[in-house]
Amino acid sequence: MSKIEQTLSIIKPDAVERNLQDQIKQEFTNKGFEIIKEKKIHISKEEAERFYKVHETKPFYNDLCSYLSSGPIIVMTLQRENAVVENRKLMGATNPVDAEEGTLRKKYGISIDKNSVHGSDSPENAKIELDFFFNH
Ligand code: CDP
Ligand code: MG
Repeated sequence: MSKIEQTLSIIKPDAVERNLQDQIKQEFTNKGFEIIKEKKIHISKEEAERFYKVHETKPFYNDLCSYLSSGPIIVMTLQRENAVVENRKLMGATNPVDAEEGTLRKKYGISIDKNSVHGSDSPENAKIELDFFFNH
């Protein structure tokens, strides 16, 4: 059964800084994702804290929020069949060192914190995250 879905993707500051956004967008479209919405923004630390609230008890939370608000990011609505899972596959493991060959984090990631891309981890969170960036 085909299930057309949407997910949130973020091209993080380390990738935008290296001007990799067109290359990364091409990777998505090559894998059958349609970029439905897209905007380049620079969020505040407070916005990053709200976005990553699920991680507020983690030791890396403060650095993570400083980092996501450190420079411009590209936020996108990606659409295709099973978009959430397919995007997570294309992204690869959180730590680029553990990411499989050919994945975005393997190809572009610098370190576990500067891992170039974010992707929603479930359809429920995709809705919440898309709302956060596109319906406010
Ligand atoms: O992004 P992903 O869903 O793969 O990982 P996460 O566990 O939801 O963590 C969110 C982000 O926090 C990661 O993408 C990393 O950039 C960062 N992180 C970190 O800096 N240090 C860790 N030990 C774990 C995650
Ligand atoms: Mg996550």
